[in-house]
Amino acid sequence: MALLLCAGIAATAAGRARAATPEPSALAFADGRGGVSLDGAWHVIIDPYDNGSLDYRSQPRPHGYFDDARPRDKSDLVEYDFARSPTLQVPGDWNTQRPDLLYYEGTIWYERRFDAALHEGNRAFVQFGAAAQRATVWLNGKRLGDHEGGFTPFAFEVTGIVRARDNSIVVKVDNTRRAEALPALNTDWWNYGGLTRGVRLIETPRTFIRAARVQLAREEPPSLARRVSSREGSGTLPGFPSSVDQQDASLVRGTVRLDGARAPVTVTIEIPDAHARHTVTTDESGQVRFAFVATLAPWSPESPRLYDVVVRAGDDRVTDRIGFRTIRTQGPNILLNGKPIFLRGISMHEEALGRGGRATTRAEAEALLGLAKELGCNFVRLAHYPHGEEMTRAADRLGLLVWSEIPVYWTIAWSNVTTLAAARAQLAEEIARDGNRASVVLWSVGNETPVSDARNRFLRTLVDDVRAADDTRLVTAALEHHAVDARTHLLDDPLGASLDVLGLNEYVGWYDGLPAKCDTLTWRSAYDKPIVVSEFGADAKAGQHGDALTRFSEEYQADVYRRQLAMLKKIPSLRGLSPWILVDFRSPRRPLPGVQDGWNRKGLVSNDGVKKEAFGVLRDAYRTWSPLAPPPLAPPPAAGR
Ligand code: GCU
Repeated sequence: MALLLCAGIAATAAGRARAATPEPSALAFADGRGGVSLDGAWHVIIDPYDNGSLDYRSQPRPHGYFDDARPRDKSDLVEYDFARSPTLQVPGDWNTQRPDLLYYEGTIWYERRFDAALHEGNRAFVQFGAAAQRATVWLNGKRLGDHEGGFTPFAFEVTGIVRARDNSIVVKVDNTRRAEALPALNTDWWNYGGLTRGVRLIETPRTFIRAARVQLAREEPPSLARRVSSREGSGTLPGFPSSVDQQDASLVRGTVRLDGARAPVTVTIEIPDAHARHTVTTDESGQVRFAFVATLAPWSPESPRLYDVVVRAGDDRVTDRIGFRTIRTQGPNILLNGKPIFLRGISMHEEALGRGGRATTRAEAEALLGLAKELGCNFVRLAHYPHGEEMTRAADRLGLLVWSEIPVYWTIAWSNVTTLAAARAQLAEEIARDGNRASVVLWSVGNETPVSDARNRFLRTLVDDVRAADDTRLVTAALEHHAVDARTHLLDDPLGASLDVLGLNEYVGWYDGLPAKCDTLTWRSAYDKPIVVSEFGADAKAGQHGDALTRFSEEYQADVYRRQLAMLKKIPSLRGLSPWILVDFRSPRRPLPGVQDGWNRKGLVSNDGVKKEAFGVLRDAYRTWSPLAPPPLAPPPAAGR
């Protein structure tokens, strides 16, 4: 039963102040909108010298490949021709499409032509799921803009630029690694380049729904009822389900942001299967916050219930499939829908099983997550950058909780303002894209970053950004630790004070001693907060065998897993694991001939799908996993976190 809470709450001043980070440019609900998919074969020009945009003096060319020119007559000098140039598939990285491009880093120009039959009076945008690592886009010779960051979506408005027939779109993609960029120069994964996710021409009405976040408020019903009636004034919720079992009533909260509004607009949010329908009115600029109570079956790994949610505003209507759940911490516990949960997880990169290269399709996402389900996981750590939307939507459907991360990885330019701006922009784009994904419960602001004042300031800014953009999820980071003595390791990274959940990366038994070291090691934490061991593991070449002390053998890896699991179970505040890693992945840092050959071999499954002995060790452990009983729940706090 849906009860209406007619409180259209106008956007607050505080929210506007925080918009120091530019609003993400991508349109939400893109897939459900009219328009044209631009996926498929694109012509390409490999351009290691940036000849397409720079002249022999390395000065910007007034006329370059972006003109997509054709010789006007036999004497006209044009030294490129996309139409006769080879093609590459979009979406897809370029490195695994042609052997000569495997380790290519630099610029590649993409071009394709298309027709666009759009409705009179409508607006149009070109949207990219991702372009690694940066892109500049032209349509019909007009420069639309740039985007920095290889793992998040972006869009440009092309109303009035796009024409009905024979449009020329040219994209300069450059994956050159830069010290001030994110990721920076050094990573333990391959720097795939290209238009790695889908491209779409999107059509919208003049005024349209640019973004809508529809989630459950963080608190569960009992404290919600007390708080709502206390703060929002009893009587504002006449008939709050005192008679109805409060257990089922949930507070749905959210925001809608219109684009093109010139006056207040009526917005309706509807959840048909829950018989919930709520109407509010935006402010002049088309923004509104809303809250209403509905009876919803909670989303969880055991029952990943998704609801159709329909948002209408003026001529526009969008739908999304959304699960409703709450996630929060209480002392050392993580509570999903108010109940303690242990995150039985695995880490993974976004590489397609078998084929290699960036995973791009629904089937490739499901193949990877299917392996995680087979392991008995209820959680995956998507490392070290936002994976594609196919992945997080598949996690919603399959019932896997998600740790999502931006590539603030190892050592970056902590004091460089453009680096900080890039991190904040990637974070904002990631949260805007996946803000409605029930599966995503943890936003990670970094991985194995060295403690320093500049680093702490940098990461705390990101933590604040997360809290401002999304107060329904938890903030974490993969932290390092140090040895107090030969038998005691301590997690006391100062950033821990700002996080909800502490990620811990440790390689006892691989980089740090031999497997037996696990047997005598004790872990201590400086915080009364949940710990997720976000990485442990060992390399093993599938099919390579030896005794448990032979490096790179399956036996060694399996032994590390057995001893690690026994060691970690003793950590009182351990509330999750995501061992490194589900599948072997490409890394130029791993040359060992006949063993690694350019692959990090810490996978439990080889890149061509062969399960190693340790896969069974973890699967069996998760099957019977009951870590030391978590301490009894403390009474819920008055309000907030
Ligand atoms: C690091 C890092 C991973 C890397 C792993 C390894 O902890 O976070 O990106 O691949 O260790 O060394 O295998």
